[in-house]
Formats: sequence, structure tokens, C-alpha cells
Amino acid sequence: MAIRNIREDGDEILKKTAREVDKIDERIQILIDDMIDTMHALNGVGLAAQQVGVLKRIVVIDLYDDKGVLVLINPEIIKEKGTQEVDEGCLSFPNQFAKIIRPKEVEVEALDRNGKKIKVKAKDLLAQAISHEVDHLKGITFVEKIIPGTLQYIEPENK
Ligand code: NI
Repeated sequence: MAIRNIREDGDEILKKTAREVDKIDERIQILIDDMIDTMHALNGVGLAAQQVGVLKRIVVIDLYDDKGVLVLINPEIIKEKGTQEVDEGCLSFPNQFAKIIRPKEVEVEALDRNGKKIKVKAKDLLAQAISHEVDHLKGITFVEKIIPGTLQYIEPENK
């Protein structure tokens, strides 16, 4: 278990395309555990592997509800339905928030961390999170989708 450094705005890795995971080995399990720890330490709802500097198609998502952490390996969005206008931020763009358009519902196929094929039907916040994280794997960040004029810089409150 370890918290890894988050790659931030300006880091070229955020614009690269992640590669398929072909073998879910011990290194991948450690990576997934570290991604979960890092996401939780920063109170994030999702994290893609390239945000911790690894170009592999892995995302973790936690909405802090009763469903626990969702781990998606090699995720593919196979269906999108409708749209929603949402407020969004990203751990790689600290203090930046904006309105963007996401699909209202998505269906994603992936492997879970045991290598089992799963299909997740998601709507609202979970659909937003899956869309955001799968975008990361394609080198797309939310700042490219901002509705003009809605970007805000919000400094964290001093603790
Ligand atoms: Ni992000």
C-alpha cells in the first residue's frame, strides 16, 4: 500500500493513450491497491493509471456509497445514452472546476481485478465518473470538454 504522486496539468503522459493490460499479475495488483489508496488519500472519486504515471488501461472509481471501489481493467464503453450537464474536476487539475457535458447513462465492459469479464450499467454520477476515467485512458482530460465560460479556480481552504 502506497500513495503515488499524481501527474498534473502539463505532464505529457496525460495526453498519451494507455495500453491494454494483457496479464493481471502481482505488479498490476499492487498498482491497483496503490491507485485506490491514492484516490482515497485525495478524496477523489476516480483515478486512471496514467495519472500515477503508468500507461495501462486501468481505472478505479469510488462514489463513497455502499458499493465500494469499482476496478475496471481494459474498459470499453459499449453504449452511451442521453446527456447531463455536470460540475467536474480532476485530481490532475487541482483547484479547477467547470461545467461539462457527459453521457447520462453508459454501459461499460471490462475485466475486474480477478480477470473476470464484467459489464456495468451506470447512470448519473457513476456514468460521469466512468466517462471521465475512460477518457483519461485515451489521453483526453476534462479541460478539453469545458463549456466555455464555466471554468473556475477554487483554492482549497486552509486547514
Ligand atoms: Ni481525472
